[in-house]
Amino acid sequence: MLIDHYGRAITYLRISITDRCNLRCAYCQPASGLSWIPEDKLLNKDDFVRLAKAAASLGITKIRITGGEPLVHPDVLEIIERIGAIPGIQDLSLTSNAILLEEMAKPMAAAGLKRVNISLDTLDPEKYRRVTRFGDFNQAWKGIMAAEEAGLSPIKLNTVVVGGFNDDEIPALARLSLDHPWHIRFIELMPVANSNDWGNGLPPVNQRYVSVQTMHEMLADLSLEPEATSANSGPERTFRIPGAPGTVGFISPLGEHFCARCNRLRLTADGRLRSCLLVDKEISIRDAIKSGADLEAFLMKAVEEKPRGHELHDHNCPDTRCMSQIGG
Ligand code: 5AD
Ligand code: SF4
Repeated sequence: MLIDHYGRAITYLRISITDRCNLRCAYCQPASGLSWIPEDKLLNKDDFVRLAKAAASLGITKIRITGGEPLVHPDVLEIIERIGAIPGIQDLSLTSNAILLEEMAKPMAAAGLKRVNISLDTLDPEKYRRVTRFGDFNQAWKGIMAAEEAGLSPIKLNTVVVGGFNDDEIPALARLSLDHPWHIRFIELMPVANSNDWGNGLPPVNQRYVSVQTMHEMLADLSLEPEATSANSGPERTFRIPGAPGTVGFISPLGEHFCARCNRLRLTADGRLRSCLLVDKEISIRDAIKSGADLEAFLMKAVEEKPRGHELHDHNCPDTRCMSQIGG
């Protein structure tokens, strides 16, 4: 079992299998797009599986495949199938923007995927196009429906709340949990390499941040009831509209419990272990993976060096990578 310096058990690994994405969400990538990590710097499917096996041998039980957009990776099905078959991996999930899920939900389920988290910031097609820079809301919605039909469950929707853009939609999004057994999760905007002008008439920097407390106030009419938190619930606080089949959750990266309950480690597509989403400290494991060296020692070192928490309060914001190069 991997236990860090502050007594946190690290049981969850997020693997970003690609930095490529078929959208350009304003809070995630600059409008001009990023230069992708060169092909020869990326890990391949065998590398991801090797690292996942080493992680499982050290007590990692939960793996999430992220991106960029993981479904644009040509080997995503094989990666899911092989990682899902590793003994000890009890929970394998994926984060996606759903654009490709209409065609891929069924094959993903057949490959052994159990559930998906889907990024959806608005229910308005025009706003969806603006925030994603060119995405088609209906395509994403069809993807969500396809995920449901394929039996991927539970479906979690991630909404990054941006003041002056989609904060007015918080009640409508929360109400989706009345009609569907989905988990709607509102995420505070994180200051990761995104202090620039987003263009497209999107709000300026000083208007964008909305706290979880404010989101709660906007939902006062729905009489949200807190759900019991399990040890595994990570940084989310979960509630339910009385009688609803789905839930409403809040993720507050600036809140205290976020770091204290952190159980995760991240691998980037170019082979770096990152022990904190919000601290730019990484260990390169690429050469070790490529050379067939012992990977356990690297994983243990990353855990040993995991910071107690981020330093956003001191305005120490990560800026070496955009979110699409970390995987959220
Ligand atoms: N702040 C908060 N959440 C973000 N995500 C991407 N960038 C940010 C940001 N700056 C979310 C995406 C996705 C998840 C992986 O991270 O919406 O759902
Ligand atoms: Fe792509 Fe997700 Fe980033 Fe949007 S948030 S650009 S869907 S990686």
